[in-house]
Amino acid sequence: MNHKLVRRGLIALALVLVGIQLVRPARTNPPVAPANTLSAQVDVPPPVDAIFNRACADCHSHRTRWPWYSEIAPVSWLLTHHVNDGRQKMNLDSWDDATSFKDICREVQSGAMPMKGYLILHPDATLSPQDVQAVCAWTQRASGR
Ligand code: HEC
Repeated sequence: MNHKLVRRGLIALALVLVGIQLVRPARTNPPVAPANTLSAQVDVPPPVDAIFNRACADCHSHRTRWPWYSEIAPVSWLLTHHVNDGRQKMNLDSWDDATSFKDICREVQSGAMPMKGYLILHPDATLSPQDVQAVCAWTQRASGR
């Protein structure tokens, strides 16, 4: 390999990595209106509430704990996209009936949620079989209201 070429390539890569830092998507945490939360509208027992806060709230609430690496492109682009997308599908702090309880149970039962990549960095968000059962038992009760 030609060393000069490798060096040029690395410098170009470094410049690109610096340059993309200029594109900074907004990392938002909109204010929480107590009347709009899930628990204001549906009875959520404390154990289920705790599961949601531990394993879902970073992407499905207005209380995202933005990690330091969410400042760095291109990771920042990916994370803000996940959070915006997640909030649109299910928002614990801006609950609307469009979110189906059945979907929640299906997502946790299949292991699709919490997202795999998230679990690598947040192993404490892993759901036990008991957690899944608690969530699904609750969705059944909640949808029968
Ligand atoms: C790392 C971010 C992240 C975490 C953590 C997370 N989600 Fe999601 N969730 C998303 C994204 C992004 C989407 C939209 C894309 C998709 O459906 O895969 C989504 C979609 C969903 C949907 C809608 C699925 C559909 O097909 O419409 C439900 C329901 C859901 N999540 C529930 C949960 C629950 C319950 C938890 C916690 C146990 C959780 N999520 C944790 C990011 C996350």
